[in-house]
Amino acid sequence: MKLCMIGTGYVGLVSGVCFSDLGNDVVCVDKDKNKIDQLKNGKIPIYEPGLSELVIKNYKNKRLTFSSDLKSSVKNSDIIFICVGTPTKKKGSSADLSQVFNVAKELSLSINKFKIIITKSTVPVTTGDEIEKILSKKNSKNKFSVVSNPEFLREGEAIRDFTFPDRIVIGTNDKKSNKILKNLYSPLISKGAQYINTSRRAAELIKYASNAFLATKITFINEVANLCEKTGINVEDISIGMGLDKRIGSRFLRAGPAYGGSCFPKDTKAIISTADKFNTNLSVIKSVVKSNENRSNILLNRVYKILNNKIKNKKITFLGVTFKANTDDMRDSSSLTMIPALSKKGAYIKYFDPTGYKKEFKKFKNVSYVNSIKKSLDNSDLVIIHTEWNDFKSINFKNINKGKKFIIYDMRNIYLPSKIKSQGFKYYSVGR
Ligand code: UDX
Repeated sequence: MKLCMIGTGYVGLVSGVCFSDLGNDVVCVDKDKNKIDQLKNGKIPIYEPGLSELVIKNYKNKRLTFSSDLKSSVKNSDIIFICVGTPTKKKGSSADLSQVFNVAKELSLSINKFKIIITKSTVPVTTGDEIEKILSKKNSKNKFSVVSNPEFLREGEAIRDFTFPDRIVIGTNDKKSNKILKNLYSPLISKGAQYINTSRRAAELIKYASNAFLATKITFINEVANLCEKTGINVEDISIGMGLDKRIGSRFLRAGPAYGGSCFPKDTKAIISTADKFNTNLSVIKSVVKSNENRSNILLNRVYKILNNKIKNKKITFLGVTFKANTDDMRDSSSLTMIPALSKKGAYIKYFDPTGYKKEFKKFKNVSYVNSIKKSLDNSDLVIIHTEWNDFKSINFKNINKGKKFIIYDMRNIYLPSKIKSQGFKYYSVGR
């Protein structure tokens, strides 16, 4: 099939490359010419394990092409995926849909034969209706079908999540489009993915409800972890004990810093805003957002307590600053709250991240990047394990720094407390 992905960000690029790997002809379109030129030269704008190899392989096979010409790319394709960003509006908390609607306007001028137009971007319920209205201004209704097909990719695991999805959700009442899309996804369905066909509005809401629920699960265990710290309980016992109940499930019950990234913070706010528009109070999700926003303060207060409130001139190391492992994404990472707060109180911060220097900390003069774990630990008073990279999972703290001792605050519960403590280190973790 001939596919066109509009937007070569996370969702568009990963889905486009994976669809081409399944044997489709895919053109990835972006109005950023520079990005398109880079992609043609095999340079990948995002860090995602395995993506580069797949881009190069399918580009060489000529199943994958890149273009900044939306019109001709759309004309030559049967299925168009809208994969542009839907960030939080600068003012307020609803999703900014300007990019989606701009694409819809451009699309309305390029429909030469029947096209299936799909929103893969995360869009609030009723956005498909709006897109349909825009397209109808210039085209008759039998020339297009607007479908919602939300994407559930996790950064760092995106190719695996595309190839082995738990479910494929197709939101449309149009039988013809459903048949074509079921056929497009048949290689994944035959490997076990569940395919469900719902109304377009339901598909739009499934995406937000899923992300909001996962965010709730994380926030729930983070709050339980606070109680565990006060009562001498290991939160991991709670996660295991709860998770074995099949109705609950064990995943997304890892306590840690505030959840971050490009989806959960923005999508929880956007679903609340959509519900408000429809006079519906999503009080649970509102509490989740509030609790998560306060999470960094709770962890920071623990840091202050660990250092007896003497932060000035303390040398603090951050191992990992991204919002999670296997990504270079800094969006809504809790390090963006913690590092400036500690720097403001006069601490000297060194950070090491496997994905390198981060411009986000440039303006803080007592915050510096170092290019190895060993250098980051030099003369440190407190080491904060902020992100769960594999690189940090078997550090020989005892020998790495000539036996010098420092305090360790493991915000991801990577290490066994007894093991680290037996090596003579003061060790703190989350909810245990
Ligand atoms: C998420 C959804 O999982 C994905 O389906 C959706 O399409 C996009 O948003 P992503 O943001 O890439 O994916 O990361 P995810 O692995 O879900 O983690 C999000 C945040 O939750 C991270 O900050 C992570 O550290 C945190 N998290 C996750 C926890 O604190 N505990 C957990 O048990 C799981």
